[in-house]
Amino acid sequence: MDANSTAKSLVVYFSMPETTEPENMSREEELSTVVIDGEVLGNTQYVAYIIAENTGADIFRIEPVTPYPLDHSELENIAQKEQSDNFRPEIAGTVEDIGQYDIIFFGFPNWYYDMPMIMYSFLDQYDLTGKTVVPFVTSGGSGFSDAINTIKDMEPDADVVTDGLSISRNVVQDSEPDIIEWLIEKGFIQ
Ligand SMILES: Cc1cc2nc3c(=O)[nH]c(=O)nc-3n(C[C@H](O)[C@H](O)[C@H](O)COP(=O)(O)O)c2cc1C
Repeated sequence: MDANSTAKSLVVYFSMPETTEPENMSREEELSTVVIDGEVLGNTQYVAYIIAENTGADIFRIEPVTPYPLDHSELENIAQKEQSDNFRPEIAGTVEDIGQYDIIFFGFPNWYYDMPMIMYSFLDQYDLTGKTVVPFVTSGGSGFSDAINTIKDMEPDADVVTDGLSISRNVVQDSEPDIIEWLIEKGFIQ
C-alpha cells in the first residue's frame, strides 16, 4: 500500500459562475460556466467536482459572507478593488477539523493575474503545515500567473505541488479525461 491510498483529501475551491440560468446566456456567462444536466456549475466548481469524485476527497466551497454580484462588470469592479486594497473577504462557514486532511486540492479562477483575494483569506485563516497542497486553476489563458509562489510563501511548511493543474475555460467542459489522467500521473489515484 502506498502512502496516498491511506491519505485523506479535501478539495477546497472558490468559483464564481456568473449566472444560475442554463438558458440564454451572455458570452461572459457562457465562458464562466459548465452546464451538466441542466445544472449550472462554475468552471472551477466543475473541476473541483471531478477531482472529488475521482479521489473520494471531501469538498469545501469557499464562499464570501457578502456574496459577489453576478453581473460581470460589477464583479470586475469589486475584484479589482479587493486586489488593489489587498483586502481579505470574510469566508462563510469553516472547514471541520482541517487537521484530519493530508492532501488539500486548492482551486480557484485566475482573477487579474492572481488568486481571488478570498483565497488569501483562506490561507491566512488555515495553517496547512505538513500537508500536500495541490493547486488547480481555471482561466482565460493566464493559468496560475504567480499564484503557486504566493501559496508557497503563505504556507512555507506545506508541500506545495509546483506543477499544479491548469485548465483553460475554453476546454473545461471536455476536460474530465485530462483531469483523471493528471490525477493518475501525479499518483493521487491508481
Ligand atoms: C474578475 C475577473 C478577473 C479575471 N481575470 C483573468 C485574468 O487575469 N486572466 C485570465 O486568464 N482569466 C481571467 N478571468 C477569467 C476567469 O479566470 C475564467 O473565466 C475562470 O474559468 C472562471 O472560473 P469560475 O467559473 O470557476 O469562476 C477573470 C474573470 C473574472 C470574473
